[in-house]
Amino acid sequence: MADTLRFSQNGDRATIYSEIVPQLGSLLAAEPDLVADLANIAAVLKESLGFYWVGFYLVKGDELVLGPFQGTLACTRIKHGEGVCGHAWEKRETVIVPDVDEFPGHIACSSASRSEIVVPIFNADATVAGVLDVDSDKLHDFSQIDADGLGRIVRLIERVIEGHTHPQMNE
Ligand code: SME
Repeated sequence: MADTLRFSQNGDRATIYSEIVPQLGSLLAAEPDLVADLANIAAVLKESLGFYWVGFYLVKGDELVLGPFQGTLACTRIKHGEGVCGHAWEKRETVIVPDVDEFPGHIACSSASRSEIVVPIFNADATVAGVLDVDSDKLHDFSQIDADGLGRIVRLIERVIEGHTHPQMNE
């Protein structure tokens, strides 16, 4: 990606995901450092989709520890199985929470957060490396479109973790 992000100002989410994924593919191809890539991914998702909070938690021992993010101050450590993030880690699958007040054990980093999606990121050996967490200040704000779009971005991250410095732009 050049230094300018391009996306449709009035595009729907599916359109914007389809626009930003190839640009992120190029960006990650040019930078093998994981933290640098995660920081730019958070910035791109915040800028293009306007999410309330978007960021990463990375597995360190038996906890998730806060990584690069865009948004308000966040809790720094989440235990395996706890909260939406720890649940996605334990279940090893994407979790969509339409109303955080209905999710037992939800960790409220911000009272403004109303719905949430968490996508696990895998190492090459199939262990979980971390999660991508996106929060919205609106109820029912996430759908399969987000699971698919964010999932495509997570696949790019997994290639960086595996040490491929040239992820396929269309993955
Ligand atoms: N709500 C998350 C905690 C992280 S914040 O949303 C940034 C959870 O329940 O795991």
